[in-house]
Amino acid sequence: MKTSALTIGIILLARLVKVDGRRGTTEISETLELYKTDAKYTALLKEINSTYHGRPHNTANNLEFEKYFQTVLSGLNLTVYDIADKIDIYTDFTVYNQIRLELEREISKTIQVAKNLLSLKNLLPHCRTFFMDQQVQMAASISQSNLMKMEILNNPSPECENVELNQITFLETTTTTTTPKPINYDSIFRDILQKYSKRPWGNLKYLEFDEQIWQVFMALNTDDKIYKKETLIGFMGYDKDREKLDKALAVRIGKFKKIIANETDSNCKGNLLYLNKRLSLAMFETLEKKRKILVITNYIHSCVKHEEHLKIVDKINKT
Ligand SMILES: *[C@@H]1O[C@H](CO)[C@@H](O)[C@H](O)[C@H]1NC(C)=O
Ligand SMILES: *[C@@H]1O[C@H](CO)[C@@H](O)[C@H](O)[C@H]1NC(C)=O
Ligand SMILES: *[C@@H]1O[C@H](CO)[C@@H](O)[C@H](O)[C@H]1NC(C)=O
Repeated sequence: MKTSALTIGIILLARLVKVDGRRGTTEISETLELYKTDAKYTALLKEINSTYHGRPHNTANNLEFEKYFQTVLSGLNLTVYDIADKIDIYTDFTVYNQIRLELEREISKTIQVAKNLLSLKNLLPHCRTFFMDQQVQMAASISQSNLMKMEILNNPSPECENVELNQITFLETTTTTTTPKPINYDSIFRDILQKYSKRPWGNLKYLEFDEQIWQVFMALNTDDKIYKKETLIGFMGYDKDREKLDKALAVRIGKFKKIIANETDSNCKGNLLYLNKRLSLAMFETLEKKRKILVITNYIHSCVKHEEHLKIVDKINKT
């Protein structure tokens, strides 16, 4: 286009020069023609100036745009004899600006697509990263040269762009299960207190368990979330162990009752009864004592060596 504009200019100038030699009517009409052309391009350049004077539509801070705009201003300073340059300036600016506008339309389309895809909860993580980076790059490229814009637009991700949606997302069901509900500690604490409000062991003292229940009660009356969480974890761990040991104690007591029922030796029966009483009392003792009595009574199936076991049991109970 530069060449064609230049050619027009040269032809016009050539005619002017030729006309200079032999003055006549053609000279006047061609000179008029020149002035008309100049007026037309001056008007076009002025229009560009008034449209972009305030740097609207993404044209601010664009060095390349600035360069072309300044040539438009300098074009407005040219005389009628520089009509060829004027046409060049107009053509260059218009071509540059049309390409710029086209690229910017393409950029804003790409940004919109990325925005829509980023709103999907189940977008694959590496595609999420790609589209987030792309948005930033696209937004920054607005003030860059047309060449840079083209380069950024032609930097696709074969994995994340121009592929079916199901190739860049994972199944929705997996996302719904990954969002855990916040734990309502107070409601759990109230359930625990409710569950143990009527102690199955009546009037018997159960110091270690009472201590644990007291911790729960205290945690219910605090605002400290971390303290609530730690107390809950502590209590759940303790109560799980306690339940297991109490179950084992109950099973052991049942076994002993059967042995006792079959025992004919009264002395031996007395010892077995004593051990069984120990097992029952262990229900309200510490986890440590529950474990010890279970270990000691593990191998007792008859009266053999009961005396020795009784000594050990007593020793444990005294510590
Ligand atoms: C360019 O446009 C502005 C705003 O319309 C105007 O003030 C200024 O005089 C114009 N410049 C030229 C060289 O026409
Ligand atoms: C236009 O000409 C005037 C006076 O000659 C000058 O001051 C001004 O800088 C010129 N503008 C451009 C854009 O060349
Ligand atoms: C109790 O004695 C009966 C008969 O003597 C026997 O069949 C049963 O196995 C014994 N039970 C235990 C728990 O030792």
